[in-house]
Amino acid sequence: MTMIRVLYTILLITTLSCKNEKNVALKNIEDKQKEVSVIEESFGYLPDSTEIKQFTLTNEQGIEMKAITYGGIITSLKTPDRTGKFDDVVLGYDNMEGYLKKTPYFGAIIGRYGNRIANGKFELEGKTYQLATNNGKNHLHGGIKGFDKVVWDVTEIKDENGVGLKLNYVSPDGEEGYPGNLIAQVEYFLGNDNTLSFNYTAKTDRPTIVNLTQHSYFNFTGAQRDVLSHLLKINASNITAIDNGLIPTGEFLSVTGTPFDFRNAKEIGQDIESDDEQMKFGLGFDHNWIIDGDKAFKFAASVYEPKSGRYMEILTTEPGIQFYSGNFLDGSIIGKNNIVYNHRYGFCLETQHFPDSPNKSHFPSSTLDVGETYHSKTTLKFSTK
Ligand code: BGC
Repeated sequence: MTMIRVLYTILLITTLSCKNEKNVALKNIEDKQKEVSVIEESFGYLPDSTEIKQFTLTNEQGIEMKAITYGGIITSLKTPDRTGKFDDVVLGYDNMEGYLKKTPYFGAIIGRYGNRIANGKFELEGKTYQLATNNGKNHLHGGIKGFDKVVWDVTEIKDENGVGLKLNYVSPDGEEGYPGNLIAQVEYFLGNDNTLSFNYTAKTDRPTIVNLTQHSYFNFTGAQRDVLSHLLKINASNITAIDNGLIPTGEFLSVTGTPFDFRNAKEIGQDIESDDEQMKFGLGFDHNWIIDGDKAFKFAASVYEPKSGRYMEILTTEPGIQFYSGNFLDGSIIGKNNIVYNHRYGFCLETQHFPDSPNKSHFPSSTLDVGETYHSKTTLKFSTK
């Protein structure tokens, strides 16, 4: 009888404690789900008194992204390391003043045309267009006042898969020299599966060119040191070779036996000081890799930081990806939390059509015609290893 009572008591305690554990787990999930949110607040003002808003998005796993209406800039992105400790993995400023004073496109939407167009000139349907030149004699990242410096109209998205923002901007005919009124929309979506997607669409009322991208600078150490020990893999057998002005020569250069071979993951720093001529032109890595494979939405690159365990994969519909190793960062910028951004403290992986495509008929076309919709999608997948 006593034995039965003892057994009964043990069973009761076990059941109760299991129930309790289950309740705690359920409560944690509920708490996390409760945290899924979009919060809007003021980030500062432009010189003309326009207020800039900042949106904080949090997904079910606690990943938090902040973005502002100015340039659609991602000002902060906090992801966990392998122990669950969150750090900000993108470079940027704490306030509006920083972005207004000097920014190498930190975290911004780039448009209408990402990267360079030789002499800022191109021909379309027999007409020559002269764009603003802002990189020596060339056009870079949309010109003097590109999409990184305009105010986007932002609305929130929230559904069972995550949270996001819809950013809208209408670029008037002739802006920075581009033909056509362009209605551009960029969607940032932070999924509960720890993906961050960039969905771009655009429409025009005159034939034009479009090449939109996102210019976040990543550092998976939380900007504690340079990015040279991050392991990078790029799914590409060729790059578009450049001249000393970083304009494609038109040649597709095989990566085999060159510092550009990232088909197997290697440290960013491994060959960065190579005296390869292409590397000298770029002052390091600043080239367009031609992504292998003909799948519409394909694996482009991955980055792994061994100390923190942070791992990111990039998938895209774009044919190319610009890997820029932060060569122009030189310690003259003091970023968030008073961190000095020294040489190569951040890297960019910008999915794109190839630089100078409007002047290279054998490159995939970046022309957008009336009645067509420009579509581009890139997804970043965050995890740890
Ligand atoms: C370009 C670099 C440029 C940088 C601007 C990158 O996308 O490839 O050449 O200096 O943007 O910060």
